[in-house]
Amino acid sequence: MQSTYNSHVKRIVVGLIVIVALGLAGKKLLAPKSFGVYGHYRADAIEEAAAIEIRHGTNASCLSCHPFEAQIHLSGKHSTISCEFCHGPYADHAKNGKKIGTLPVKTGEEIKILCLRCHNRAIQARPGEVIKTVIMPAHLEEQKVKTTHICNQCHHVHAPLRYINHAKRIVGMQEAS
Ligand code: HEC
Ligand code: HEC
Ligand code: HEC
Ligand code: HEC
Repeated sequence: MQSTYNSHVKRIVVGLIVIVALGLAGKKLLAPKSFGVYGHYRADAIEEAAAIEIRHGTNASCLSCHPFEAQIHLSGKHSTISCEFCHGPYADHAKNGKKIGTLPVKTGEEIKILCLRCHNRAIQARPGEVIKTVIMPAHLEEQKVKTTHICNQCHHVHAPLRYINHAKRIVGMQEAS
């Protein structure tokens, strides 16, 4: 009885040793060269990440060449929104102070889609204190216009309340804050 019990334990122990040995050998063979130099990660990953081309600038990076748009943008409700969210990455457009490529400029229906990516009430988890949302086409019906109207027919894309507040001032209504 005793010997059978022992051989059973032995088999488990030998099995475990084989598994650990295989694991250690596998780690040695398969782990990338620079793994563990600084810590529990690949040291080369740092240099690789640092070598990736920077594709985005800041809004300030657009300012020098587009003072007109930048000025309007800074004066309005969209001042905190990244130019590149709507226009695409700096790297496709400018390099070393020169224009090197054309950025897409949205038109028509594309503008509606762009605006509603952030302002659609249907997207949950957008508290009204942070961002105002609208229901379409109800928003246009409230304004008593055809539902084919595009957002930028009333909202300046770079400062969305600019002309609406201007219009309200003319007719003596309270401005949208
Ligand atoms: C909310 C999205 C949005 C943001 C943010 C935004 N733009 Fe625009 N921009 C547009 C749209 C849409 C158009 C084209 C439609 C229009 O002018 O009504 C446009 C037009 C332009 C044009 C004119 C393009 C042409 O040839 O007609 C320039 C230049 C421009 N934007 C630069 C900027 C800069 C610089 C910033 C940041 C300071 C910026 N935009 C921020 C959406 C945006
Ligand atoms: C080195 C100068 C320079 C910088 C920096 C620059 N632009 Fe431009 N951009 C131009 C020139 C030049 C044009 C073409 C003439 C014009 O429309 O004013 C242009 C045109 C545009 C257009 C119209 C479409 C096109 O590509 O012709 C958009 C949109 C635009 N820029 C957005 C931006 C945004 C957003 C930034 C910042 C991320 C930016 N630009 C940074 C020089 C620049
Ligand atoms: C990247 C997300 C984003 C996109 C795209 C965007 N907006 Fe906005 N918009 C905002 C945020 C955030 C605010 C609120 C800023 C604040 O209150 O300081 C805002 C403010 C506004 C306001 C003022 C609301 C109020 O009363 O405070 C209007 C109107 C508006 N946007 C319309 C538009 C239109 C039209 C477009 C399309 C051309 C558009 N937005 C595209 C994020 C976005
Ligand atoms: C016919 C003109 C018109 C069109 C087109 C239009 N809007 Fe408006 N929008 C307004 C007016 C006017 C207000 C201000 C309402 C107020 O102050 O009571 C407004 C307010 C807003 C607000 C702020 C809502 C709030 O609760 O304060 C957002 C966000 C907005 N619009 C987004 C859009 C988007 C996105 C589109 C396109 C899909 C669009 N609008 C198209 C006229 C328009």
